Amino acid sequence: MTLEVIILAAGQGSRMRSTLPKVLHPVAGKSMLSHVIGLAAAVASDKTHVVIGHGADQVKSSIPNSTVQWALQSEQKGTGHAVAQALPAVSDDAQVLILYGDVPLTTPETIQKLVSTSADKANTEQVTLLTVELDDPNGYGRIIRNNSDQVTAIVEQKDASAAQLSISEVNTGIMCVSASALKRWLPKLSDNNAQGEYYLTDIIAMAVSDGVAIHVCQATEPMEVQGANNRIQLEELERFYQRRYADKLMLAGASLADASRIDVRGSLTTGNDVYIDINCVFEGEVTLGDGVRIGPNCHISDSKIASNAEIKANSVLEGAVVGADCSVGPFARLRPGTILAAEVKIGNFVETKKANIGIGSKVSHLSYIGDAEIGRDVNVGAGTITCNYDGVNKYKTTLADEVFVGSNTALVAPVSVGKAATIGAGSVITGNIADGELAVARSKQRNISGWQRPKKLARD
Ligand code: UD1
Ligand code: CA
Repeated sequence: MTLEVIILAAGQGSRMRSTLPKVLHPVAGKSMLSHVIGLAAAVASDKTHVVIGHGADQVKSSIPNSTVQWALQSEQKGTGHAVAQALPAVSDDAQVLILYGDVPLTTPETIQKLVSTSADKANTEQVTLLTVELDDPNGYGRIIRNNSDQVTAIVEQKDASAAQLSISEVNTGIMCVSASALKRWLPKLSDNNAQGEYYLTDIIAMAVSDGVAIHVCQATEPMEVQGANNRIQLEELERFYQRRYADKLMLAGASLADASRIDVRGSLTTGNDVYIDINCVFEGEVTLGDGVRIGPNCHISDSKIASNAEIKANSVLEGAVVGADCSVGPFARLRPGTILAAEVKIGNFVETKKANIGIGSKVSHLSYIGDAEIGRDVNVGAGTITCNYDGVNKYKTTLADEVFVGSNTALVAPVSVGKAATIGAGSVITGNIADGELAVARSKQRNISGWQRPKKLARD
């Protein structure tokens, strides 16, 4: 069976009150449209068409290097009209799966169920609807069934009678239809209805009169088929997504202090016995090894943290690699290119960038370490700064194994310090230091005896 997907994404979404086209609003850090394109890929779509209209250029450029086919619907005349714009590029023998660009959280399992209902008799024309029972069906198209429970039509809210409005089974909009039937039916749609639109849903009555089988697949979780028309619904989708992700993490062996206070915008992979305290945000690709502990209020993106490392409260990690048994924070900032070997300690108010720090080394307090190569068992004293930038170019600082850097040292790069060398506190190091040497680079202390403190002036 050939499966082609048509994603409807031409609508403006005026209730978002936004300059951003609706389908580009993000859920979990990713546009609703890219969630839906991902869904099409997950069910092995042979070809994916996206119908665009409002903000077409912006929508297109939000999905770079994609293999999707774009179809332009310059005027939004309804869902049936939208599907018709993509149809010429669809092959006659395909089954067409219709998805909405503003319904981002359907699972591949649900869609797979819908598609395999169609695959059963792929050679005969058919329609398979994804429906759902809602406590409040207000606003949706209602599924009309006859006495023998066969679907006979979908009636839109605005065209429905009082009796039809009491039906709680609704059209999710997601359906699978044979391309050949769509090509016959869509040209026959009329806009003679309450909204003056070409309704895709009118094909159901056409299927009935053509004797084409209509199957139904029911979604069990309403949020899976929920669209976002305004920012309240967008937030509801976000919370549903996050709760579902948190459940997945817990089942995979991570303990969460509060499943409602973690946000994952990307992918988070966790080992066993990971513990994540409240208010943590994870972005991009993050991996936490076995036994990793994350303190409260951490923001971690595109980072790898090895087993039993601890990231303490209020730390920010971006593009960092943290080795096993490291201790980072509280209030640490690890920037891209930070690579910590095992058992490294990074303490409070320490910023690192492009820094390779060896086993067991410590940068415990108030430091900036950038463009640095640091060996093992190095102790970097409080307030040490690598002066890596001369205003134009960046230079490297190298500290060999077992170096001891006294507090408040400025390492003016490029500079290199030999194995087990010691630097006196308050030094400004501008030249290299050989193995084992002590460098002290500060003005000498001068004591003045008999010195008188100034006296307070008498008041007027
Ligand atoms: C549609 C269904 C309704 C269903 C509901 C589920 C029809 C006629 N009605 O109603 O039965 O219960 O979805 O949410 O199909 N779009 C276009 N071009 C257009 C019109 C719409 O691309 O000309 C896109 C929109 O951007 C949106 C989707 O199609 O992603 C649905 O359109 P919308 O206007 O929200 O349909 P509803 O009236 O909600
Ligand atoms: Ca809608």
